[in-house]
Amino acid sequence: MDAEQSHRLALGALDRAEQLGLLGWVLPSTVEDPIELMGLRFPNRVGLAAGLDKDAAHVRGLARLGFGSLEVGTVTPRPQTGNPQPRLFRLKSHQAIINRMGFNNAGVDALVQRVGGWQRDGTILGINIGKNATTPLDDAVQDYLISFRKVYQYADYVTINISSPNTTGLRDLQAGERLRDLCGRLRAEQVGLAGIYGREVPLVLKLAPDMDDDALRECADVAVAMGFRGLIVTNTTVARPESIPLALAGEAGGLSGAPLRERSLAVLELLAGHCGTGAALIASGGVMSGADAAERIRAGAQLVQLYSGLIYRGPGLVAEAARTLAQSPA
Ligand code: FNR
Repeated sequence: MDAEQSHRLALGALDRAEQLGLLGWVLPSTVEDPIELMGLRFPNRVGLAAGLDKDAAHVRGLARLGFGSLEVGTVTPRPQTGNPQPRLFRLKSHQAIINRMGFNNAGVDALVQRVGGWQRDGTILGINIGKNATTPLDDAVQDYLISFRKVYQYADYVTINISSPNTTGLRDLQAGERLRDLCGRLRAEQVGLAGIYGREVPLVLKLAPDMDDDALRECADVAVAMGFRGLIVTNTTVARPESIPLALAGEAGGLSGAPLRERSLAVLELLAGHCGTGAALIASGGVMSGADAAERIRAGAQLVQLYSGLIYRGPGLVAEAARTLAQSPA
């Protein structure tokens, strides 16, 4: 079956099981291993990475899988269809995925309507925002500001995604004046919104693994200096390790899953050494087992996020990772 269709069917089945009240019978209850981070209380250290539930259409079912946090999005100010299909490729033998979805989503207004009515029961909600494909790079900041204002009152934290490889030019926002301008204006907006809503919603920056060490350090320094509270390391990679069969390696898009593990871990180690306690570090990229999750915590992350692991290992990975972390030192 086409990979995108099978993801859709799985999420549909999850929704139906949740509506019928069946999930409580088949799933273990959420592992309680609370941690305070960015001024928030995470019920445990395992989160869902962005992109699986771009429109927050499945949050009730996903929360029942035992995640301490769900990151929905990436959402853009206006709805958009994303890239033409096929745009999602599974490489089962390598526990990997290549995707070039291109932020297909129903737009920020639809997303806030959905999350507005969700009783969260302590699950932390991150909302990941990006720019529309048709917005010129010079106007990108406006897209982020529009969505930031709209999601502010619903989000526990907001992730700024400038690291997807599937929106032309997006990664150019990760350096120099563009980065400083984007982070600075979001910070100023945050101060204003905190005054209105009486609560500061932390900003988190999601980084690509395809930058060199200096560029990664620069990105982290700018974000932290501008008041960002967390960094997600990392998004998918445009690199293709030699092990990836040529037929698939040629597909454009971001690679995730097991082959991303080594690079994501290396970026985490670099930034853990560089940032100290200046920012919360959220590990994403090739966390395929409880042992992988524990390795990230040892390397300096406070939280881990799952995407490809959930696809290949199934929902049992959430409890496996959360239990492993609950048993390992913080
Ligand atoms: C993603 N990812 C992603 N990230 C993001 O910030 N916004 C997004 O919209 C998406 N979309 C998306 C779609 C698909 C099909 C995949 C596989 C991934 C990246 C994801 O959140 C995560 O950072 C990477 O996939 C690395 O983690 P895993 O998959 O190796 O656990």
